[in-house]
Amino acid sequence: MSREPMIAPSLLSADFARLADEVARVADADWLHVDVMDGHFVPNLTLGLPVAKAIQAVSTVPLDCHLMIEDPERWAPGYAEMGARNVTVHAEACTDPCGVARDIRAAGSLAGLAIKPGTPLDDVLEVLPDFDTLLVMSVEPGFGGQSFIPDVLGKVRRARELVDTGHLQVLVEIDGGINADTIEQAAEAGVDVFVAGSAVYGADDPAKAIAALRAQAAAARG
Ligand code: DX5
Ligand code: ZN
Repeated sequence: MSREPMIAPSLLSADFARLADEVARVADADWLHVDVMDGHFVPNLTLGLPVAKAIQAVSTVPLDCHLMIEDPERWAPGYAEMGARNVTVHAEACTDPCGVARDIRAAGSLAGLAIKPGTPLDDVLEVLPDFDTLLVMSVEPGFGGQSFIPDVLGKVRRARELVDTGHLQVLVEIDGGINADTIEQAAEAGVDVFVAGSAVYGADDPAKAIAALRAQAAAARG
Protein backbone atom coordinates (compact mmCIF):
# COMPACT_ATOMS: atom_id res chain seq x y z
CA MET A 1 0.00 0.00 0.00
CA SER A 2 1.41 3.36 -1.07
CA ARG A 3 2.88 5.60 1.60
CA GLU A 4 3.10 8.64 -0.66
CA PRO A 5 0.81 11.31 0.79
CA MET A 6 -2.32 11.79 -1.29
CA ILE A 7 -4.17 15.10 -1.53
CA ALA A 8 -7.93 15.08 -2.14
CA PRO A 9 -9.39 18.57 -2.67
CA SER A 10 -12.99 18.85 -1.52
CA LEU A 11 -15.38 20.26 -4.09
CA LEU A 12 -17.54 21.55 -1.24
CA SER A 13 -15.42 24.72 -1.26
CA ALA A 14 -15.60 25.12 -5.05
CA ASP A 15 -17.96 27.36 -7.03
CA PHE A 16 -20.97 25.09 -7.64
CA ALA A 17 -22.08 27.23 -10.58
CA ARG A 18 -18.85 26.35 -12.44
CA LEU A 19 -18.27 22.74 -11.46
CA ALA A 20 -16.46 21.55 -14.62
CA ASP A 21 -13.99 24.45 -14.42
CA GLU A 22 -13.46 23.84 -10.72
CA VAL A 23 -12.77 20.14 -11.37
CA ALA A 24 -10.20 21.11 -14.02
CA ARG A 25 -8.38 23.41 -11.60
CA VAL A 26 -7.33 20.44 -9.43
CA ALA A 27 -6.26 18.08 -12.23
CA ASP A 28 -3.04 17.19 -10.41
CA ALA A 29 -4.78 16.04 -7.24
CA ASP A 30 -4.65 12.36 -6.26
CA TRP A 31 -8.39 12.05 -5.59
CA LEU A 32 -11.25 14.53 -5.91
CA HIS A 33 -13.37 14.53 -2.75
CA VAL A 34 -17.13 14.83 -3.34
CA ASP A 35 -19.23 15.56 -0.23
CA VAL A 36 -22.73 14.13 -0.49
CA MET A 37 -25.03 15.47 2.26
CA ASP A 38 -28.71 14.67 2.61
CA GLY A 39 -29.95 17.27 5.10
CA HIS A 40 -30.75 14.45 7.57
CA PHE A 41 -27.52 12.77 8.63
CA VAL A 42 -25.97 16.26 8.60
CA PRO A 43 -27.72 19.64 8.72
CA ASN A 44 -26.71 20.56 5.16
CA LEU A 45 -27.71 19.47 1.67
CA THR A 46 -25.27 19.35 -1.24
CA LEU A 47 -25.63 17.03 -4.22
CA GLY A 48 -26.63 13.50 -5.12
CA LEU A 49 -25.96 10.84 -7.71
CA PRO A 50 -26.99 12.82 -10.85
CA VAL A 51 -24.54 15.63 -10.07
CA ALA A 52 -21.85 13.17 -8.96
CA LYS A 53 -22.22 11.43 -12.35
CA ALA A 54 -21.79 14.75 -14.14
CA ILE A 55 -18.60 15.38 -12.14
CA GLN A 56 -17.36 11.85 -12.87
CA ALA A 57 -17.90 12.48 -16.61
CA VAL A 58 -15.58 15.50 -16.68
CA SER A 59 -12.99 14.54 -14.05
CA THR A 60 -9.61 13.08 -14.95
CA VAL A 61 -9.00 12.65 -11.23
CA PRO A 62 -10.53 9.59 -9.47
CA LEU A 63 -13.52 10.50 -7.31
CA ASP A 64 -13.58 9.99 -3.56
CA CYS A 65 -17.27 10.11 -2.61
CA HIS A 66 -17.98 10.89 1.05
CA LEU A 67 -21.59 10.00 1.80
CA MET A 68 -22.91 11.92 4.80
CA ILE A 69 -26.34 10.42 4.41
CA GLU A 70 -28.84 8.17 6.11
CA ASP A 71 -29.55 4.76 4.63
CA PRO A 72 -26.13 4.36 2.94
CA GLU A 73 -27.01 0.73 2.18
CA ARG A 74 -29.51 2.02 -0.36
CA TRP A 75 -27.43 4.71 -2.06
CA ALA A 76 -23.73 3.81 -1.81
CA PRO A 77 -23.65 1.13 -4.55
CA GLY A 78 -24.79 3.71 -7.14
CA TYR A 79 -21.66 5.78 -6.55
CA ALA A 80 -19.50 2.70 -7.00
CA GLU A 81 -21.38 1.69 -10.17
CA MET A 82 -20.80 5.10 -11.75
CA GLY A 83 -17.03 4.59 -11.34
CA ALA A 84 -15.95 6.35 -8.14
CA ARG A 85 -12.52 5.16 -6.96
CA ASN A 86 -13.56 5.18 -3.29
CA VAL A 87 -17.01 5.31 -1.71
CA THR A 88 -17.14 6.16 1.99
CA VAL A 89 -20.15 5.65 4.27
CA HIS A 90 -20.53 6.77 7.86
CA ALA A 91 -20.32 4.13 10.58
CA GLU A 92 -22.94 6.06 12.56
CA ALA A 93 -25.43 5.72 9.69
CA CYS A 94 -24.89 2.04 8.81
CA THR A 95 -27.06 -0.79 10.00
CA ASP A 96 -25.05 -3.34 8.00
CA PRO A 97 -21.54 -1.94 7.41
CA CYS A 98 -20.12 -5.21 6.10
CA GLY A 99 -23.00 -5.60 3.67
CA VAL A 100 -22.53 -2.12 2.25
CA ALA A 101 -18.76 -2.65 1.97
CA ARG A 102 -19.38 -5.85 0.06
CA ASP A 103 -21.77 -4.10 -2.35
CA ILE A 104 -19.37 -1.19 -2.94
CA ARG A 105 -16.47 -3.54 -3.65
CA ALA A 106 -18.61 -5.76 -5.87
CA ALA A 107 -19.35 -2.69 -8.01
CA GLY A 108 -15.61 -2.06 -8.41
CA SER A 109 -14.76 0.68 -5.90
CA LEU A 110 -12.74 0.82 -2.74
CA ALA A 111 -15.00 0.83 0.33
CA GLY A 112 -14.49 3.50 2.97
CA LEU A 113 -15.75 3.83 6.52
CA ALA A 114 -15.98 7.27 8.14
CA ILE A 115 -16.16 8.09 11.83
CA LYS A 116 -17.25 11.40 13.34
CA PRO A 117 -14.91 13.09 15.87
CA GLY A 118 -16.83 11.61 18.82
CA THR A 119 -16.95 8.03 17.53
CA PRO A 120 -14.24 5.81 19.07
CA LEU A 121 -12.09 3.64 16.82
CA ASP A 122 -13.07 0.68 18.98
CA ASP A 123 -16.64 0.95 17.67
CA VAL A 124 -15.50 0.00 14.16
CA LEU A 125 -12.43 -2.21 14.64
CA GLU A 126 -14.45 -5.36 14.15
CA VAL A 127 -15.80 -4.32 10.74
CA LEU A 128 -12.72 -2.49 9.41
CA PRO A 129 -11.19 -5.61 7.80
CA ASP A 130 -14.06 -5.37 5.28
CA PHE A 131 -13.02 -1.82 4.28
CA ASP A 132 -10.18 -0.33 2.25
CA THR A 133 -10.14 3.18 3.70
CA LEU A 134 -10.80 4.66 7.15
CA LEU A 135 -11.92 8.30 7.10
CA VAL A 136 -11.26 10.04 10.40
CA MET A 137 -13.34 13.22 10.56
CA SER A 138 -11.42 16.10 12.11
CA VAL A 139 -14.46 18.42 12.19
CA GLU A 140 -18.15 17.70 12.75
CA PRO A 141 -19.40 16.71 9.29
CA GLY A 142 -21.66 19.17 7.49
CA PHE A 143 -19.67 22.25 6.53
CA GLY A 144 -16.34 23.31 5.06
CA GLY A 145 -14.05 25.89 6.62
CA GLN A 146 -14.23 24.66 10.23
CA SER A 147 -11.30 24.40 12.65
CA PHE A 148 -9.29 21.19 12.91
CA ILE A 149 -9.94 19.10 16.06
CA PRO A 150 -6.50 17.78 17.12
CA ASP A 151 -8.00 15.26 19.56
CA VAL A 152 -8.83 12.91 16.68
CA LEU A 153 -5.13 12.31 16.01
CA GLY A 154 -5.09 9.65 18.72
CA LYS A 155 -7.38 7.56 16.51
CA VAL A 156 -5.11 8.19 13.52
CA ARG A 157 -2.03 7.07 15.47
CA ARG A 158 -3.74 3.90 16.62
CA ALA A 159 -5.02 3.06 13.13
CA ARG A 160 -1.53 3.71 11.69
CA GLU A 161 -0.02 1.34 14.22
CA LEU A 162 -2.54 -1.38 13.42
CA VAL A 163 -1.76 -0.99 9.72
CA ASP A 164 2.00 -0.92 10.18
CA THR A 165 1.93 -4.04 12.35
CA GLY A 166 -0.17 -5.92 9.80
CA HIS A 167 -3.35 -6.08 11.86
CA LEU A 168 -5.31 -3.89 9.50
CA GLN A 169 -5.13 -3.00 5.80
CA VAL A 170 -6.63 0.41 5.17
CA LEU A 171 -5.61 3.79 3.86
CA VAL A 172 -6.02 6.32 6.67
CA GLU A 173 -7.79 9.46 5.46
CA ILE A 174 -8.45 12.69 7.35
CA ASP A 175 -11.13 15.27 6.55
CA GLY A 176 -11.78 18.69 8.04
CA GLY A 177 -9.64 21.75 8.73
CA ILE A 178 -6.57 20.47 6.88
CA ASN A 179 -4.35 23.35 5.76
CA ALA A 180 -0.71 24.51 5.90
CA ASP A 181 -0.96 24.90 9.70
CA THR A 182 -2.44 21.47 10.46
CA ILE A 183 -1.27 19.04 7.77
CA GLU A 184 2.08 18.32 9.40
CA GLN A 185 0.64 17.04 12.68
CA ALA A 186 -1.79 14.86 10.71
CA ALA A 187 1.06 13.52 8.58
CA GLU A 188 3.19 12.78 11.64
CA ALA A 189 0.27 10.86 13.15
CA GLY A 190 0.17 8.63 10.06
CA VAL A 191 -2.44 9.91 7.61
CA ASP A 192 -2.24 8.64 3.99
CA VAL A 193 -4.99 10.72 2.34
CA PHE A 194 -5.56 14.39 3.18
CA VAL A 195 -8.87 16.01 2.26
CA ALA A 196 -8.62 19.79 1.94
CA GLY A 197 -11.47 22.03 0.87
CA SER A 198 -10.98 25.66 1.75
CA ALA A 199 -7.16 25.32 1.79
CA VAL A 200 -7.20 24.34 -1.90
CA TYR A 201 -10.19 26.17 -3.37
CA GLY A 202 -9.63 29.24 -1.21
CA ALA A 203 -6.11 29.60 -2.65
CA ASP A 204 -5.40 31.82 -5.67
CA ASP A 205 -3.70 28.88 -7.36
CA PRO A 206 -5.23 25.51 -6.31
CA ALA A 207 -2.55 23.53 -8.17
CA LYS A 208 0.17 25.29 -6.19
CA ALA A 209 -1.73 24.73 -2.94
CA ILE A 210 -1.98 20.99 -3.68
CA ALA A 211 1.75 20.74 -4.41
CA ALA A 212 2.63 22.69 -1.26
CA LEU A 213 0.38 20.54 0.96
CA ARG A 214 1.79 17.36 -0.58
CA ALA A 215 5.38 18.51 0.02
CA GLN A 216 4.60 19.50 3.61
CA ALA A 217 2.97 16.12 4.32
CA ALA A 218 5.85 14.20 2.73
CA ALA A 219 8.44 16.15 4.73
CA ALA A 220 6.55 15.69 8.00
CA ARG A 221 6.33 11.94 7.47
CA GLY A 222 10.06 11.78 6.87
C1 DX5 B 1 -17.22 18.42 5.93
C2 DX5 B 1 -16.72 17.76 4.66
C3 DX5 B 1 -15.35 18.13 4.30
C4 DX5 B 1 -15.13 19.60 4.00
C5 DX5 B 1 -13.72 19.95 4.33
O1 DX5 B 1 -18.34 17.77 6.37
O2 DX5 B 1 -16.77 16.36 4.81
O3 DX5 B 1 -14.91 17.35 3.19
O4 DX5 B 1 -15.37 19.94 2.67
O5 DX5 B 1 -13.54 21.31 4.17
P1 DX5 B 1 -12.32 22.06 4.86
O6 DX5 B 1 -11.07 21.47 4.31
O7 DX5 B 1 -12.52 23.48 4.47
O8 DX5 B 1 -12.45 21.83 6.35
ZN1 ZN C 1 -15.78 15.16 3.26
